[in-house]
Amino acid sequence: MKVLVIYGTRPEAIKLAPVAHALGAIRPTISVVTIATGQHREMAAAAAATAGLSTQRDLDVMTPNQSPDQVMAATLTALPAVLEEEHPNVVVVQGDTTSAAAAALAAFHARVPVAHVEAGLRTGDIERPFPEEMNRKLIATLASLHFAPTPAARSNLLAEGVRDEQVLVTGNTVIDSLRRTSRFSRCPPGFELAKGRRLVMVTAHRRENIGAPLDRIALAIGRIAERSDVQVVVAMHANPRVRESMLPLGDCDAVDLLEPLAHDEVAWLLSRCHLLLTDSGGLQEEASMMGVPVVVVREVTERPEVVDSGLGVLVGTGTERIVDEVCRILDDADVHRRMAVPRDLYGDGRASERIAAAISERFRTTRSS
Ligand code: UD1
Repeated sequence: MKVLVIYGTRPEAIKLAPVAHALGAIRPTISVVTIATGQHREMAAAAAATAGLSTQRDLDVMTPNQSPDQVMAATLTALPAVLEEEHPNVVVVQGDTTSAAAAALAAFHARVPVAHVEAGLRTGDIERPFPEEMNRKLIATLASLHFAPTPAARSNLLAEGVRDEQVLVTGNTVIDSLRRTSRFSRCPPGFELAKGRRLVMVTAHRRENIGAPLDRIALAIGRIAERSDVQVVVAMHANPRVRESMLPLGDCDAVDLLEPLAHDEVAWLLSRCHLLLTDSGGLQEEASMMGVPVVVVREVTERPEVVDSGLGVLVGTGTERIVDEVCRILDDADVHRRMAVPRDLYGDGRASERIAAAISERFRTTRSS
């Protein structure tokens, strides 16, 4: 039985690596072919290397300043020949990127079943995140097996008419990945913890925050960094429009701007930080495992578990509100203590095993036509 695992960006590489490993462990019954679309070339390749995900084929779709249409069109153009040649029993995609949606659509056109990892996340707002909420719904329509990370994600799928027997609640594979990476976590080169200051970690780069919202977030970070008791570390993103908003923070003494981090460096910083300020989906999940309080700089989230459990607060992108919430958590030890509790909101680190077993079970007798 042959499984094609397709990824395009850093979070997909991180979240699919343990799935590819678990499928590979079912050898010789299953052969795994991993394909990079190349949606985000360097960052995805670096994440794949750290996660030990070996890549057999690269569609190389990335172009400078690419639009979702270009990613979709290039992936849909390149993938059919690969599907024809590899003749897989099933295609595995993860999450909500344009790469994942395009790969699911190409597989559907080729009549190859699709298995969707991290299925069922929804904000309920088709505009946010853009275009990911639409990608999620599109993939859900195309997939025949849905791996929901949480019971809430499963409920979202059932409410959209997905049949119960097509959904399996597995946990999120990011937890499997972070557990592995944490075993060899390391300090980012050149970075030093400042004595007597608490570490605030920041990542912000999602598409719907680019422009004015990111500028407001950067302004808030600058204000927070004026406090004498904090050190702020910002993990930069490769996107030039994100960098434009964040680069002025380089002038603040208490801010370290670090180039995109390897996952083992993220693990090191997470285990030492007092607070995480982020718009990232993956980092919200990881913070819950590590017991790091999260301030989520978004208007909506498809990860209600973080907020409902009290581990995180959803604050939007207004400068004042961000500064107020961060200072409240920094200034009130009781608030911080209540939030800083490690929780299994996203599983027990065995999601990939469950996914591999279910794929093996469900598709071992199918053949693409
Ligand atoms: C978001 C987008 C996704 C896009 C991706 C680009 C949404 C809903 N999703 O996903 O479409 O492809 O950003 O990156 O808008 N990490 C590192 N190094 C870093 C920072 C983060 O390894 O410097 C790791 C985190 O630990 C986590 C993963 O990357 O495991 C999260 O990736 P992130 O880029 O933040 O993606 P998402 O917000 O999940």
